[in-house]
Amino acid sequence: MTKVAFIGLGVMGYPMAGHLKAGGHDVTVYNRTAAKAEAWVKQHGGAMAKTPREAVEGAEIAFSCVGNDDDLRGVVLGEDGILAGLASGSIYVDNTTASAEVARELHAAGREQGVDVIDAPVSGGQAGAENGALTVMCGGDEAPFARAQPVIDCYAKAVTLMGPSGAGQLTKMVNQICIAGLVQGLAEAMNFGMKAGLDMDKVIDVIGKGAAQSWQMDNRASTMCKGEFEFGFAVDWMRKDLSICFAEANNNGARLPVAALVDQFYAQVQARGGNRWDTSSLMHLLMKD
Ligand SMILES: NC(=O)c1ccc[n+]([C@@H]2O[C@H](COP(=O)([O-])OP(=O)(O)OC[C@H]3O[C@@H](n4cnc5c(N)ncnc54)[C@H](OP(=O)(O)O)[C@@H]3O)[C@@H](O)[C@H]2O)c1
Repeated sequence: MTKVAFIGLGVMGYPMAGHLKAGGHDVTVYNRTAAKAEAWVKQHGGAMAKTPREAVEGAEIAFSCVGNDDDLRGVVLGEDGILAGLASGSIYVDNTTASAEVARELHAAGREQGVDVIDAPVSGGQAGAENGALTVMCGGDEAPFARAQPVIDCYAKAVTLMGPSGAGQLTKMVNQICIAGLVQGLAEAMNFGMKAGLDMDKVIDVIGKGAAQSWQMDNRASTMCKGEFEFGFAVDWMRKDLSICFAEANNNGARLPVAALVDQFYAQVQARGGNRWDTSSLMHLLMKD
């Protein structure tokens, strides 16, 4: 049993922290909106704290999963932050999707006080978090990764150290760039098939067994055709992730022409009020133009 803390009980963090508790660990949680922490403790047991600092005091490993770079700095730095509460020799694993820059900044801040910081963004969505089957891409140092991995395993089906601090976030960027173009392609194909008068259940069934198969096709194609877009990964989050990719591409010189175009489509979805629709809502622009 490891003494752990979890900061940020959102769509992802709430079930992830639950899997840590179910895995036999001693879990203390903190959430900005205290009602969610109260509900979590009622459901899972464990303890809740009033600040991130209080939550992580005495923890061997602290976890977080908040929104963006600024949210992350807000819960990690400062007198009530995670780093103020962690003792030398402890580990801090951040599951937020954020920039590689903030990952390196927090890694350096941790090092000054003997805390090992691992950037560990996840893929697999709300369902992956609820089923404890996330893919976790880590950046950091080998020894603390080896210590943290068995605990991360509680909410993951795959956990990989990608390289030094920031490498987890860079890998997540690759993941999001893949998804952006793929979802637009899938939306165009599904819309085309519907306009051609095909039975789309049969189309998805047959081409889903061939070279066009993808996670997005398996999980989203049929709901896209029905105009249903309430499945977890919000358009607002995708635009946040793509903006991180564009900033990184500015530094490394990579060209992202399709991702940039798809980002504009997502801006149109937001203008239609689709901020919390899931990323497959690119289909909405094609069905109702
Ligand atoms: N949802 C997905 O399918 C998915 C998949 C992969 C990765 N991610 C990434 O995982 C992260 C969390 O996503 P989510 O869907 O769980 O988001 P969410 O449901 O909106 O939850 C965000 C959590 O962060 C907390 N938070 C945000 N800003 C904060 C701040 N400034 N100070 C303190 N707490 C703050 C929120 O507290 P309150 O409850 O008080 O608002 C909440 O607990 C994001 O970086 C997202 O891109 C999400």
